[in-house]
Amino acid sequence: MKVVHTIEDLRDQLRGQLRVSFVPTMGNLHRGHLALMKLARQHGDPVVASIFVNRMQFGPNEDFDRYPRTLQSDIEKLERERDVYVLFAPDERELYPEPQNYRVQPPQELGDILEGECRPGFFTGVSTVVLKLFSCVQPRVAVFGKKDYQQLMVIRNMCRQFQLPVEILAHETVRDDQGLALSSRNQYLQPGERAEAPQLQATLRELQARLHGGQRDTAKLEADAIARLAARGWSVDYIAVRRQRDLHKAAADEVAAGEPLVVLAAARLGATRLIDNLEL
Ligand code: PAF
Repeated sequence: MKVVHTIEDLRDQLRGQLRVSFVPTMGNLHRGHLALMKLARQHGDPVVASIFVNRMQFGPNEDFDRYPRTLQSDIEKLERERDVYVLFAPDERELYPEPQNYRVQPPQELGDILEGECRPGFFTGVSTVVLKLFSCVQPRVAVFGKKDYQQLMVIRNMCRQFQLPVEILAHETVRDDQGLALSSRNQYLQPGERAEAPQLQATLRELQARLHGGQRDTAKLEADAIARLAARGWSVDYIAVRRQRDLHKAAADEVAAGEPLVVLAAARLGATRLIDNLEL
């Protein structure tokens, strides 16, 4: 695997390649990321991965400074898996050589709800860096995980609206044996919190079971799920049952007619904020 830190070296490595498959990450790689790279490999050649902790998508009180930066061990993991041909690991000066005054602003109705409401500017930061990375790598295919369900939709819509020649593939969320979605942020969890964390997904599954059991009042299902987690010591940002197609609320008749739904959740356990979702 070649490790490159500049756009010029990246382009040298990729000259003439028309089937590039790309996995952007912020590093601290776990099995979830490695699964994305495997999928990328099935859909293109060569596979390019990037590692860049993107300041623009972190709020002022978020974990940008303490976000785990583990480039050496990430490289070792990628070398062992042998799926990635080029790892692009730019520093901030390389990717943002001047103040980023042109930004990609997702529409309010998608970018300012749920995650975007809790983390103002988050999707502008994500969309802007993903567009920059696409412009550097020029992939034909790019792979994202479904754990970041809203992010996936924001990026898909951005590609469609800007007619970017990139096919976006989604990979199912990779979980541990207890059902906890793998995330770099899981390592912030204290041991007791680590044991509790799978309750986020368990709560979404319980909501799903009640919906399938005929309880169609989604506001009540959400409120009960929030209360369940709050009683266990969580602080819930949102648990929201939404339409899969646009993440907006479904009307009662749509729910009854079988509109495809997804429940999305974000909640804090101690100092750690976790997100998860479940297609219903
Ligand atoms: O999902 C992530 O790790 C990040 O949001 C991404 C897509 C790499 C952009 O920084």
